[in-house]
Amino acid sequence: MHYYSAKNIMKKFAVLGNPIDHSLSPQIHLEFARQSNISIVYIKKFVPLDSFKQIIQELKNDDFHGANVTLPFKSDAADIAQHKSKEVVETNSANTLTFNTHDITADSTDGNGLLSDLEIKIGSIADSNVLLLGAGGAANAIIPSLQKAKIKQLFLTNRTMRRANDMQQFWSKNYNNIHLMENIDLNDIHIIINATSAGVNSDESPIDLISANKNLICYDMMYGLKTPFMQMAEKSNLKCFDGLGMLIQQASLSFYIWHKQKVDTKKIEDDLRSII
Ligand code: ATR
Repeated sequence: MHYYSAKNIMKKFAVLGNPIDHSLSPQIHLEFARQSNISIVYIKKFVPLDSFKQIIQELKNDDFHGANVTLPFKSDAADIAQHKSKEVVETNSANTLTFNTHDITADSTDGNGLLSDLEIKIGSIADSNVLLLGAGGAANAIIPSLQKAKIKQLFLTNRTMRRANDMQQFWSKNYNNIHLMENIDLNDIHIIINATSAGVNSDESPIDLISANKNLICYDMMYGLKTPFMQMAEKSNLKCFDGLGMLIQQASLSFYIWHKQKVDTKKIEDDLRSII
């Protein structure tokens, strides 16, 4: 007689978003699974704007083990979970859901993914002064990780300063090193992180870098296109990184949550750089 063991049943995962066609998550997770000798199913799932809860229920009914969540559902993902990591509680944003038998666990690996990538690319960012551009979900999600890395000062700026001000007020309850920067002065800044969506809807950089100090490090959380911010950094001869490394690192942290396997991220970054 033949018994199917639970071990032989492939775990199923999905990445949920709207839009979702562009997502590289299936390729990344399948490469990690290959390295780890695990067989998984990992699909892209388009979610209509009003259907997040329903799709989660469908995935659970269909015995999916977990899901990655991208825009614009990261706060819905935080809300739907019964168990939330510290980062999810702090940022009200989640990108990794695990479907347990009776409930859902939410994690957010975006901030720590950014941190891992920065550490790989430039080393420790402890004691650095960081200027963060943007005041939306992407900017908010990385603040606890920047603080965990023991940066010195965090400056916030945004096209709409009122939103940066709200963000400063919110985070200053937990951290005493966060300041608004309305008039840009890059003299004491070591790292600029672009967390705006300016790359997709404008051909103008959200900041002028021409007179910046040559050691300034620029990091754009976007990938797959050369944003005006990246172009300006290049023109100003500044070191600039895109967000592909962050994407891969956040995926490796999700993969660890689900499979308890550490993976090598270099190969997939090289592979994806050759195709995007
Ligand atoms: P997300 O959750 O992806 O961060 P969001 O909440 O829409 O998305 O925030 C987008 C961010 O990009 C905001 O900081 C936005 O600035 P405003 O608050 O002034 O809207 C910023 N942004 C978008 N387009 C921009 C542009 N062309 N120039 C500068 N900043 C821009």
